[in-house]
Amino acid sequence: MIETILWTDEGVVMIDQTRLPNEEIYVTCRNYHEVADAIRTMIIRGAPAIGVAAAMGVAIGVAQAAAADLDGQVAAISKELAGTRPTAVNLFWAIDRMNRLYSEIRHLALEEIRTRLIDEAKLVRVEDIEINMSLGRHGAALVPDGKTVLTHCNAGALATAGYGTALGVIRAAIESGKKIDVFADETRPFLQGARLTVWELQHDGIEVTLIMDNMAGHFLRSGRIGCVVVGADRIAANGDVANKIGTYSVAVLAKENNVPFYVAAPISTLDLTLAHGDLIPIEERGASEVTQVFGVQVAPKNTSVRNPAFDVTPNRYVTAIITERGVARGPYEESLRALAGK
Ligand code: MRU
Repeated sequence: MIETILWTDEGVVMIDQTRLPNEEIYVTCRNYHEVADAIRTMIIRGAPAIGVAAAMGVAIGVAQAAAADLDGQVAAISKELAGTRPTAVNLFWAIDRMNRLYSEIRHLALEEIRTRLIDEAKLVRVEDIEINMSLGRHGAALVPDGKTVLTHCNAGALATAGYGTALGVIRAAIESGKKIDVFADETRPFLQGARLTVWELQHDGIEVTLIMDNMAGHFLRSGRIGCVVVGADRIAANGDVANKIGTYSVAVLAKENNVPFYVAAPISTLDLTLAHGDLIPIEERGASEVTQVFGVQVAPKNTSVRNPAFDVTPNRYVTAIITERGVARGPYEESLRALAGK
């Protein structure tokens, strides 16, 4: 099994996703500043994995905090972690969960508070794996047997504490006896598809073929792709989905070619406070990710660049949203609230 993130006595240990697939290196974050840096620099990435890292960041911050003004320190730790990446709502969900627990136990002895927060962060990790396995079981039934599944970015074990969301659906479909293979979009500019999805599927012996992002239309038109399954960073109350840049184009091409487009995400990725996807903050990353490919300049130095890391797919392109509590279909305003119990 691929270990994405672990709590250890030395600190928060993560596989360095900026170095895969060429090097399998684990880094240890020894304080909350290092956890925040790891999220910002994408040593760890993917919405659920970011959530687990943030929970562990709060825990390690409090484990090392002085006794005086603990409330102020928890607020400072939470603020720094919350400032790392804006789009994946799991980051804020995890920080809120840790803060809610802290406010319930803040009257206890410092050692007790530390132990309880560490236990909670470990629980967020374990629950995430269980959620993904249950989400996978719900999604497996939707995947057509004997066909290819197209996915975009990496919504796998590496993007979560384990098993994955979109790749969890694929794993569960294969475990249920279906014969499927995967087409992975390269996912420019950070190459999560080429570097991470291909690596982790090969690791598990799942047949995978790498395609460039601009080839998706060609293959969706060919009749070979049985469905598209992607993850999500934030889902608005109406079912609009923010996910890795390029997801929207794939969704439109899927609808044009009558290929079902499924989104696999835990309930913690729902943001029912936002009525629609235009309200989701979209992270814009540095120009060098676009003008360079791993340090090699591929565009003139003074090129004007836009680099939104995510896009929003309107709900009309989403065939269904697969969660650990079941499958939601439109109208999503009702089905998502029913699954969330709100
Ligand atoms: O920028 P990233 O690599 O953090 O973006 C990741 C994605 O867009 C994933 O598809 C999403 O977080 C779902 S991961 C289960």
